[in-house]
Amino acid sequence: MSKLWGGRFTKETNKLVEEFTASISFDQQLAAQDIEGSLAHVQMLSECAIISAEDGERIKAGLLVLKEKLAQNQLSFDVAHEDIHMNIEKQLIDQVGPVGGKLHTGRSRNDQVATDMHLYLKEKLIQIIQLVAAVQASILGQAKENVETIMPGYTHLQRAQPISFAHHLMAYFWMLQRDKERLSDSLARVDLLPLGAGALAGTTFPIDRQRSAELLGFSQVYPNSMDAVSDRDFILEFLSNASILMMHISRLSEELIIWSSQEFQFIELDDAFCTGSSIMPQKKNPDVPELLRAKTGRVYGNLMGLLTVLKGLPLAYNKDMQEDKEGMLDTVATVEGTLALLAPLLETMVVRRENMTKATKEDYANATDIADYLSKKGMPFRDAHEVIGRIVLYAIEQNKYLLEISLDTYQQFSALFSEDIYEVLQPVATVQARTSYGGTGFEQVREQVRLAEEVLNT
Ligand code: ARG
Repeated sequence: MSKLWGGRFTKETNKLVEEFTASISFDQQLAAQDIEGSLAHVQMLSECAIISAEDGERIKAGLLVLKEKLAQNQLSFDVAHEDIHMNIEKQLIDQVGPVGGKLHTGRSRNDQVATDMHLYLKEKLIQIIQLVAAVQASILGQAKENVETIMPGYTHLQRAQPISFAHHLMAYFWMLQRDKERLSDSLARVDLLPLGAGALAGTTFPIDRQRSAELLGFSQVYPNSMDAVSDRDFILEFLSNASILMMHISRLSEELIIWSSQEFQFIELDDAFCTGSSIMPQKKNPDVPELLRAKTGRVYGNLMGLLTVLKGLPLAYNKDMQEDKEGMLDTVATVEGTLALLAPLLETMVVRRENMTKATKEDYANATDIADYLSKKGMPFRDAHEVIGRIVLYAIEQNKYLLEISLDTYQQFSALFSEDIYEVLQPVATVQARTSYGGTGFEQVREQVRLAEEVLNT
């Protein structure tokens, strides 16, 4: 099979080399972008009179046929043509004859491949941002229903202070908000066109790069042709933003797994989102959040992989850079799949409010509130902390919770105690009392939900 670059060669390519160097098995996912890029390029070539208007039209018509075939799933690819660029070009030439060979005027696969990836990521980032927003909407929906649902809040996975379940969920809303902001911010660096950089040095043809950018919907072109073909920062940035996003999802997944365990029973995941065991008939396993947690690993791996590929590469293009694609494609698919599942999983999750509330009554998570109580009555907080520490120790020894200790006993620890301590100790009251901005007090959480709604709708 003769190669598009075969002129300089006297031998057929070794079959193993052909397989090893080819990228068509994965870069065929960029076929639509490759055709889009070529359509704009040929339009620009013809407007700049680099090729005749007639040739331009014939090439365009051929590309449109290929575009249609792709939409019908009728384009086939051949490893002998190495990558998506040469596969498309070869089929164009088969379609329109030798004039198809004019398409590559003033262009190299180096600026072409970078263009394809910019086009691809730009599109995908917008879709991913929308998917993140859908997960935020699910979180918000659950939060609105659970402002006054109280549960133990944890530090060190030990019960710390009672909180509103909505408050806990909303923490993830804000993490995802930052993820969205990071992804949107990175769009500015994706929205930069490399096309027209040629192999590395620009071209001798009087091309109009601004016009190509306009045709492809890019706001700017790379000002340096060497940077244009060597830059993969925009992919790294996506992979690192995706890693942070997946880390957030992994943390949430971990909580969902813990909360749905027999030991906690704080939530129940919908049957449609769980799987069973082949041996233990009673099992209902949280496989989905487990896999969401695990898939974080491959996204981190893709980031580390590309960072390592790029480290130490001299300018400009090196074949190493072909290794930039699989990790990017895999990350897009992983993140899209993850987000698409997470939204309905959260939406259908049942909250076991009674179990959460019960848990707040069976611990010492209201101890800080007695310390605050004493310090509001004039005792320095540090001393109050010491006094309450002793009360908790006494309570544990007596096998009692703080609400079950008599006023007499409290007064033996400090004369500052009076009857109102029992109101302060009610878990609902302890949550309610945290009225500081951003705290778990119900009014603050409602305010937070209002703000989140505003943010989500802008
Ligand atoms: N398949 C190649 C890649 O993905 C396209 C660019 C090839 N350029 C070259 N000079 N061999 O990187």
